[in-house]
Amino acid sequence: MGARVVCLPGDCIGPEVMAVAHRVLRELAPDLELEDHLFGGAAIRATGGSLPDETLEACRAADAVLKAPIGDPEFDAADVRPEQGMLQLRAELDVYANLRPASRGSVDLLIVRELVGGLYFGARGVRDDGTVFDTCEYHPREVERIARRGFELARSRRGKLTSVDKANVLETSRMWRRVVHEVSADYSDVEVEDMLVDNAAMQLASAPEQFDVIVTENMFGDILSDLAAAMTGGLGLAPSASLSDSGPGIFEPVHGSAPDIAGRGIANPAAMLRSTALMLDYGLARPDEARALEAAVDVALREAPTPDLGGNATTAELADAVIAALAA
Ligand code: NAD
Ligand code: IPM
Ligand code: MN
Repeated sequence: MGARVVCLPGDCIGPEVMAVAHRVLRELAPDLELEDHLFGGAAIRATGGSLPDETLEACRAADAVLKAPIGDPEFDAADVRPEQGMLQLRAELDVYANLRPASRGSVDLLIVRELVGGLYFGARGVRDDGTVFDTCEYHPREVERIARRGFELARSRRGKLTSVDKANVLETSRMWRRVVHEVSADYSDVEVEDMLVDNAAMQLASAPEQFDVIVTENMFGDILSDLAAAMTGGLGLAPSASLSDSGPGIFEPVHGSAPDIAGRGIANPAAMLRSTALMLDYGLARPDEARALEAAVDVALREAPTPDLGGNATTAELADAVIAALAA
């Protein structure tokens, strides 16, 4: 029996790009068991909550979770929003290491974003005087485990780790920097540097080829990964893998649900397919199929680029080109 993959089709362009991933997986790895489950806005409409218990249990029991983007303007002002279920799922599966590769030409970098701590998960609320607050919180243990991931990944690549923080202002960043340097003692073969996040944004925009692995906290990683995507061809191309120490990973594009182009059949499915390749590689230990899919996506992007890349292929035409390249 093949591995079990829980698929979360998501919102807006989510089902459009997930359909392509299904089509390709049926071709490339027909033994995989693909199961769709409700999540995000679709789940709110059907059940009132964005991460139904049944979906969470299926994800826990899966070998990997393949996720399309969620989010819908319909819920922008609602009390229950699709994004809440996504943060809950990341926390429940403890997928603290979010790998966001970006490459083009001489640029080949990997952002390792801490995914289950920091500003997204700290204390929040409203004080009596009406002040609203979100808090950035990290325990040194949380920093140590993501730093180790960063060093391990740098060791397997070009041996350079850039730790991005805001240590000139934030206590959490000063602790982050101290822990990264403590961990570095175990990785003398990796060159480590610290960089303040504002400078990191500027360096990414002006000289991205200097980076190998960037390790950073949750919010900084969110912002810098969209920038890295923009520097290497755009959001339509950028995949991610979210990994824990044990248990299933979540594999999803960096981009969102793109409500501005939903329903037109023009979403670029490459980020979804590259996330599928990361799943085959990191999640299911099937590196040969992962490499075949990556290569087929590269060919298809040259032959049938979608409008975000300056072409005029539809989502389905790019998918056809991927299937043809896989068969060639
Ligand atoms: P977005 O990433 O959805 O879109 C930003 C821009 O990039 C838009 O112009 C969009 O058309 C374009 N774009 C994104 N993906 C594309 C693709 N595959 N092909 C072609 N063009 C693409 O960001 P946003 O508009 O700020 O957010 C929309 C919704 O998505 C929000 O509800 C947000 O919370 C959600 N979101 C979800 C995820 C996720 O599920 N992982 C990630 C980011 C944002
Ligand atoms: C991402 C997204 C999410 C994040 C949102 C939708 C909660 O922007 O995966 O990059 O900020 O983590
Ligand atoms: Mn983001």
